[in-house]
Amino acid sequence: MSAPALALQQFALLDDADCEARIVAAKRRLAGRCVILGHHYQRDEVFRHADFTGDSLKLSREAAQAEARYIVFCGVHFMAEVADILSRPEQVVILPDLAAGCSMADMANLVAVERCWRELSEVFDPDTTVTPVTYINSAADLKAFCGRHNGIVCTSSNARAILEWSFAQRDKVLFFPDQHLGRNTGYRMGIPLDQMVTWDFTRPMGGLSAAELRQAKLILWKGFCSVHQMFRPEHIDRFLERYPETQVIAHPECSFAVCQKAHYIGSTEFILKTVRAAAPGTRWLVGTELNLVNRLAREVRPQGKEVHFMSPTVCMCSTMYRTDPQHLLWVLENLVQGVVVNRIQVPEGDARSARLALHRMLQVA
Ligand code: 13P
Ligand code: SF4
Repeated sequence: MSAPALALQQFALLDDADCEARIVAAKRRLAGRCVILGHHYQRDEVFRHADFTGDSLKLSREAAQAEARYIVFCGVHFMAEVADILSRPEQVVILPDLAAGCSMADMANLVAVERCWRELSEVFDPDTTVTPVTYINSAADLKAFCGRHNGIVCTSSNARAILEWSFAQRDKVLFFPDQHLGRNTGYRMGIPLDQMVTWDFTRPMGGLSAAELRQAKLILWKGFCSVHQMFRPEHIDRFLERYPETQVIAHPECSFAVCQKAHYIGSTEFILKTVRAAAPGTRWLVGTELNLVNRLAREVRPQGKEVHFMSPTVCMCSTMYRTDPQHLLWVLENLVQGVVVNRIQVPEGDARSARLALHRMLQVA
């Protein structure tokens, strides 16, 4: 019989310094059996304990290759689901705080996407005309939908290659849930804006006419990231007035207007690599989450590089922030006792179809 679980309440009031020492000790006792994956938006007190860090694509590859029995995912819910789908059946994926979701992922759900697919069939046969593409920021059942309909998953770092593959299969793409990643990528591939329509999931037929749907190449779900929508083109204009030599770099979840003004667009991993590789003396304005930007600014300051946050107001991902040292310590000390708390397990039916769509992605890009 395994020991009873240690209660979260015993950890909630610990201060960060106590957690720090105990996390290091628990990791030592779990060596070889547990790997911690950390997304770039995690706060410093958690991020420093990650064995592997990365963007969504890199972390999904790490999860697929992990040897350890336990994978503790310091990120958000959809990331832990992907880790569970891609890891071996005997491996266990743990999300330290189950409330760490993604508000953008929640903007699409299976009922609404299936309704969209039915409504599209009033205009053309979607199964022969449309490749469904889901951004990795989505629930497992939407990845499964893509798996069943010969569709695919993409991330912010491979969206272009995935869209190229998708258009090679069929004439049109239904892209969900992030309209901005879809529009920014489509535009850079040469698709004119008038061939990209926005599917308003609150309205019948997405609020679109049959003629609009027939001429569209890319049908974009009307989802967005509440963090990245805070960055505005006027923030860039104002900054460039003061420092015209600045290089602007943005995540593709930013609006089209912001990405049009950026010199570089890419995933969190791309942003880090680009600024790290830049020449000393350069100045950067960065449009992505605050924890990443602050950490990068500290890292490159000694090399004479200046990194600034794009918005004048604080934009943190509140759900990424839910994973604190107290929750991390709680799951690790339970593992030391042989107890698994907060396991993420995708039902096998969905996992099988979602795996198809994820494997297609890993093969294409
Ligand atoms: P990356 O895959 O670029 O890390 O993006 C994940 C994300 O959720 C950005 O908001
Ligand atoms: Fe989701 Fe936006 Fe947070 Fe990324 S930053 S996890 S898209 S809410």
